[in-house]
Amino acid sequence: MNTKYIDLIDQTYYFPSAEFKLQNQQLQFHDIDLMQLVEQYGAPLKFTYLPKISENINLAKSWFDAAFAKANYKASYNYCYCTKSSHFKHVLDTALKNDIHIETSSAFDINIVNKLKAEGKITDETYVICNGFKREQYIDNITALINNGHKNCIPIIDNYEELGLLTAGTNHRFNVGIRIASEEEPKFEFYTSRLGIGYKNILNFYKNQIDKNEQVSLKMLHFFINTGIRDNAYYWNELHKCLKVYVSLKKVCPSLDSLNIGGGFPIKNSLAFDFDYAYMIEEIVQQIKLVCDEAGVNVPHLFTEFGSFTVGESGGAIYKILYQKQQNDREKWNMINSSFITTLPDSWAINKRFIMLALNRWNDEYERVLLGGLTCDSDDYYNSEQNVNAIYLPKYHKDKDLYIGFFNVGAYQESIGGYGGLQHCLIPAPKHVIIDRDEEGNITTRLFKEQQTSEQMLDILGY
Ligand SMILES: Cc1ncc(COP(=O)(O)O)c(C=O)c1O
Repeated sequence: MNTKYIDLIDQTYYFPSAEFKLQNQQLQFHDIDLMQLVEQYGAPLKFTYLPKISENINLAKSWFDAAFAKANYKASYNYCYCTKSSHFKHVLDTALKNDIHIETSSAFDINIVNKLKAEGKITDETYVICNGFKREQYIDNITALINNGHKNCIPIIDNYEELGLLTAGTNHRFNVGIRIASEEEPKFEFYTSRLGIGYKNILNFYKNQIDKNEQVSLKMLHFFINTGIRDNAYYWNELHKCLKVYVSLKKVCPSLDSLNIGGGFPIKNSLAFDFDYAYMIEEIVQQIKLVCDEAGVNVPHLFTEFGSFTVGESGGAIYKILYQKQQNDREKWNMINSSFITTLPDSWAINKRFIMLALNRWNDEYERVLLGGLTCDSDDYYNSEQNVNAIYLPKYHKDKDLYIGFFNVGAYQESIGGYGGLQHCLIPAPKHVIIDRDEEGNITTRLFKEQQTSEQMLDILGY
C-alpha cells in the first residue's frame, strides 16, 4: 500500500505542476527552495513572489489579444489593477511595470496614486478608474486629481448624488462611467447589488443628469458580478443584460465607447483547479461583438479590473506545526505557530480554500489531521481542501519538524486581516519576505517586514 505523502499527492493531483515540484523531498514553488527560505527567515512567514504578478498580467493581455484577433474586434483592451486586493508598494511597483492602469475604491487610494505619480510610475495618460461609494474625502481627492490635469481619471458613478458633488469640485471637463447594479445570483440573500445604479434607471439617469451637462461626458459602462467571471448561465445572462443597456445607451450617447467588465477572474485554489481562461475571454469578446454588430454600434474598448488574478498567485504563507493534540480517536489537531483568523482571514470568514502542501518530509507516511490556529477562538481552524473534505499531512513526529505552506494567498488577506494592527488574541503578524528575480533570472529575497512586536501592539492599545 502506498502510504507516503508523496504518493497521496501524486495520486490525487497532477503533480508536479507548472509552479510546484519536489527537490530532495522538499517542495519548490517557482523554483524557490521553500525550506531554505524557512532556514533563512524562520516561520511563520508570509512571502510575495513578484514575478508572478507580471506573468499573470501578460497572460491576460495575450488572451485578450488572441480573442480580439479571432473575433476581428477593433478596439483596445486596458488592463487595470484593482488596488484593494493588495495596496503594497512592491505590488503596485511591479504591476505598473507592465503598462497597465489602475482602479481605486476609496479616498486613500488616490493618495497612493499621487505618490506613484510623483515617482513617475503613473502618468496623466494612465486610466484611474474610481469606483466605490464616494464620500467627501474621496470626492475631494478625485477632483484634485482632475484639477491637476489627470485627464484619464474616470469616476464611476455609484449613486445619484455623486455627479453633483464631483462637478462642484472642479471646473474641468471630465469623463465619467456608470456602474450597473447587477442582479445577484438567485441563491443570494438579496436581489440587487447595493453597488451601482439599477439597469432600468440608467438610461433615464443619463438623459436627466449627464446628457445636458456640458462639463461631463459619459465614457464607460461598468459592470461587476460579485460571483466573478464564470462559465455559467447566471454570468452570461447578466452580461447580456449589461450589453443591452450598453447598446441602448450608445445609440443616444456618442461619447460612450468603453465597457468595463470588472474583476472576478478566478485563481488556482486547488491543485485540481481547471479553468479555461482563454476560452472564457474568447467567448466574452465574441458575445460583445455579436450584440454590438446586431445593434449596429461600434464595439467598446474593454477594461478589466483583476485584483485576485493580478496578485493572488504571488503570495504564500508558511507555518510550522508546533504540536499535535489528539482529542479523541479520530481527531488529531496539528497546531500551527500562527493563526488562520488573523493571517488568512478569508479561510475563516468566507470559508475560502487555498492550496495547502507540506514543505518537507514527503517520503513519510501521511495521516488525516485538522489544523488549529493559536488564538483561543474555536473557529480558528482549517480542515478541508477545495476538492477533498479533509486534510492530509506527513505524520506528526515530535522530533521531526514539519512545515506547511498555503499558496496563492496574495490577495485581500492583509487588508482584511488588518495587517500591522491589532490581531485576535494579539497573535503577531508574521514576517514578510519579498522574492524577486535579478536580471540573470536568479532568485533574490529581502525582508519586507519583521514579525510584529509587542511594543507595536501595546502602542496601538494605548499602553
Ligand atoms: C468594482 C470591482 N472591481 C474589481 C474587483 C476585483 O475583484 P477580483 O479581486 O475578484 O478580481 C472588485 C472586488 O470586489 C470590485 O468590487
